[in-house]
Parts: sequence; C-alpha cells; structure tokens
Amino acid sequence: MGFSIGKLSLDSKLVLAPLAGVSDSSFRLVCRLNGASLVYTEMVSADGVRRGNKRTLELLDFLPEERPIGVQLFGSDPGVVAAAAARVMELSPDLIDLNFGCPARKVVGREAGSALLNNLALLRRIASAAVAAADVPVTAKIRSGWDERTVNADKVTAMLEDCGVSAVTVHARSRAGKFTGRADWGVIARAKSAVRIPVIGNGDVAEPQDALRMLKETGCDAVMVGRGALGNPWIFNRARRLVEAGELLPPPTVRERLELLLAHMALVEGRSDRSLQSLYPMRKHVGWYTKGLVGAGGLRKSLGKTGSWEDLKRLVVEFGADLGVSGLDDFCRSWGGLCGSPDRGLQDRGSQGPPA
Ligand SMILES: Cc1cc2nc3c(=O)[nH]c(=O)nc-3n(C[C@H](O)[C@H](O)[C@H](O)COP(=O)(O)O)c2cc1C
Repeated sequence: MGFSIGKLSLDSKLVLAPLAGVSDSSFRLVCRLNGASLVYTEMVSADGVRRGNKRTLELLDFLPEERPIGVQLFGSDPGVVAAAAARVMELSPDLIDLNFGCPARKVVGREAGSALLNNLALLRRIASAAVAAADVPVTAKIRSGWDERTVNADKVTAMLEDCGVSAVTVHARSRAGKFTGRADWGVIARAKSAVRIPVIGNGDVAEPQDALRMLKETGCDAVMVGRGALGNPWIFNRARRLVEAGELLPPPTVRERLELLLAHMALVEGRSDRSLQSLYPMRKHVGWYTKGLVGAGGLRKSLGKTGSWEDLKRLVVEFGADLGVSGLDDFCRSWGGLCGSPDRGLQDRGSQGPPA
C-alpha cells in the first residue's frame, strides 16, 4: 500500500516534510520508527555543499536507519546545483529533492526557492542540470504559485516531469500565503491530473483523517506531513493504519507521549556535545510533545530556565509525576539507545567517494 519514486519503493503513503531547524537526524529517525516511509534533510544551500562548507555538510549527516532519505538542495545557478548534486552522491542518499517553495526573504532574494516559480526558464535549467548530475531520482517540492493570481502548480509539475524529475511535492499554498490560511488542496488535484509521475500532497495534514481525505479528494500518491508531526510522530502510523486498514488507532496516552519524548531526548543527547547550545532545539520538542496536557503552560515557562540536559530530563520526569505517570526516572535510566553510531557524512570522508 505504498508508492514508488522511480525505482525506489516506499512502504507507505506517509512521508515526513523537510523542516529547517527541526527535521534533524534524530527527529527523522523517530519519525521513521513511527511509520514515515520517507524522510528528508532540511534544505541546504547548493553553494554551501559545492564549496564543502562544514556547517552545511553537517546538516547532511544521517544514520543508515533513517533510509530511505532525500537530501534537499536550494540554489539558483544550474551549474552550482549540478555540482552540489554530484557531491551529494558521495553520501548515497536515496533521492535528491529540489526546493522550489521556500518563501524566506533571504532565499527568494537570491532567486532561489519559491522565486523560481516566477522564472520557469531558470527553474527548468536547474531541474534538468540536477537530473543529469544525479544517479538517484531527483524530486522537487513546489508551492501552488508565487501568489493567488499566479497559481501555476499544474504547469510547473508538468514542466518538471518533462525535465526528468521523478516526483513532485505540492505544498498547496502560494508564496504569498506563507504558512497562513487554509491550503487549497484543489491545486494538488490539478497537478496530479497534469502528470504521470507521483505527486505528493502537502499542507494542513494535522490528523490521520486529514491524510485519508487528502488522498481521496486529490488523488495524490502520498501525503507529506510537516507541522502535524511536531511532538506527534505517531501521526505516521495512525494515518497509515487508517489509510491501509480503515482503522483509527487511539491517540497516544500521556505515558506514551512522555516516554517517546524522553527516548527522543536521549537520542539527541547521546549524539550531541551536551552543551547548552545543543539543548535549545530539544526544548522546542518538549513544548510540542506536551502541548495540550494539563500544566503544559507552566512547563513551557520553566523550559527557558533549564541549563543542562539533567535539568531538562528532571523537568519532564516531574511533569509526568504530577500527571500521575510514575517511573519515568527508571525509564530514563534503562533506556538503551535506538541505533548505532552516526554516519559522519561528507566532511569526514572528504572526497574519497561513496561509503563501502
Ligand atoms: C519550521 C519549518 C521549517 C521548514 N523548512 C522547510 C525546508 O527546509 N524545506 C522545505 O521544502 N519546506 C520547509 N518547510 C515547509 C514544510 O515542509 C511544509 O511544506 C509546510 O509546513 C506545509 O506542510 P504542513 O501543513 O504539513 O506543515 C518548513 C516549514 C516549517 C514550519
């Protein structure tokens, strides 16, 4: 009941969105283990990859257990994007995704991301160059258009198919819509009917029922979940079961939520330098996993005062105890780890070619 992108078979129709600052290796792994069939790195600058920028390449570290994984690139120069795609091949990702949807001013200002929806000649050259440079399927992620007056997702999707792109994700909002208002799923349906390659629908899937509805209403091949997965990796297995078997699994219990949060935390901590800096992104996850629970507002206020991983864990354990969830401290101690050591990525391998 999955879908395919080129020769790559995915075992379900639910995929995790690229999320800058959020979809790091640990979060991707947690989502894979909870039913996402495909994950992506956050967008990275093609120029940074081509120049071997250390920080950029670190964003591409992934564990073998995360596969299948796509590396997402943004850029505006076809030669640079092709060089970056060739360099990324050293990591042997399962696919390369091109970002034609980012609305951020610093990206659009460089004629990249969603700005390319206004410059289809350049978009075509970038996509063709990436397809020629990569040995894996190249996919693309677009928005419905630049603004409401220039919705062109069907035309762009057809053009990308013509360039040899293997699948297109359509975020059903224009650049002008940023992340507000309701996504217009009709745009996904029109893109799907314009092409033979798979179309992945995206925008406003917050519950398993939304995923089922998007598949039915638009005819899309798969559904990408972004914000709906924050603090809620269960959405993948729950949506999957609903789509495949018509069964709506109950939402996770408070204990399940806090235990997965602590496991996620242990995974991040184990792979970090344990600095204060490494703690900041995890605080956001704590807020998301506990959203809506009694006392979550107070917890969020205390998060800003946590100065170490121990503080953060203690806060969650005590929060759980207040809600009647006992034994979380034992859970923390006994938790053994989800997987092996991280794949260090390009910066450690230099340019010696693909891993054995
Ligand atoms: C914090 C955040 C970071 C994002 N980063 C990326 C990114 O790196 N690349 C990308 O293509 N889209 C990015 N997006 C857009 C999402 O992938 C997705 O298209 C959007 O959130 C709509 O889906 P949703 O309604 O399921 O969240 C980001 C969105 C958010 C909220």
